[in-house]
Amino acid sequence: MNREHAIGVFDSGIGGLTVVRALHEALPDERIVYFGDTARLPYGTKSATTVAGYAAQITEFLLARDVKMLVVACNTMAAVALPVVTRLASVPVIDVLEAGARAAADRAGARRVAVLATHTTVSSGAYERAIRAQRADLTVISQACPLFAPLVEEGWVDHPVTELAAREYLRPVLAADVDAIVLGCTHYPLLSPLLARLVGPGVVLVDSARTTAARARAALAACDLLRAPGGAAPVHRYYVTDVPPRFREVAALCLGHPLPDVQLVPW
Ligand code: DGL
Repeated sequence: MNREHAIGVFDSGIGGLTVVRALHEALPDERIVYFGDTARLPYGTKSATTVAGYAAQITEFLLARDVKMLVVACNTMAAVALPVVTRLASVPVIDVLEAGARAAADRAGARRVAVLATHTTVSSGAYERAIRAQRADLTVISQACPLFAPLVEEGWVDHPVTELAAREYLRPVLAADVDAIVLGCTHYPLLSPLLARLVGPGVVLVDSARTTAARARAALAACDLLRAPGGAAPVHRYYVTDVPPRFREVAALCLGHPLPDVQLVPW
């Protein structure tokens, strides 16, 4: 492995660009190779077997591009396909679920934590296991929020319809008197301002994109794989399996700036 190699980041689509944005902030010198499986998303409604098959294919694609680390930016893949990814990978693997679970468990004084995620992530029970592995005393409540990802993709991050859906999803969560809410899906950090308003100042929102970037940084430093600062500006590459309508707007929303050119992978 070489410090000049890129970090391979992958997701079911373009929501994982929220993690790339956090990586750019935490690791501005690192090159990113991003893979978004836009032709086959959503993963969050598919079976674990199907998602694991897709994850294996993407892992091999990125490993063939000489990455020094893999970041599983998709919570659904992290929930049901991590063993497949780590078995194939010869490089360190960081995933959003473990990062989010640790961040939730680290909340001093927290007793009850909620996880908002896709159907597939919630039914896997992976967040609950990961949080309780850190803190067995925590009560974990999971809530599937299947409408959130399409609402974000519509650009409705602060819209009355999204607020209505959020109130519905948050009702059981708030009734359980939680101290923290894990945003357990790539798209949900974009709903932070709306969710923060609805839950009030007493409930902390855990953004797994930021914690993932911090863990990636720590893991690269531990393996002495950080790219030296001050060299040539990093060149990033973006691969997708489809360029759907509104792709550029949604990508810019997730990434925080316009997405450079993408390369189409015809799977
Ligand atoms: N990337 C997925 C996740 O974080 C959300 C979108 C999808 O369902 O594919 O769970």
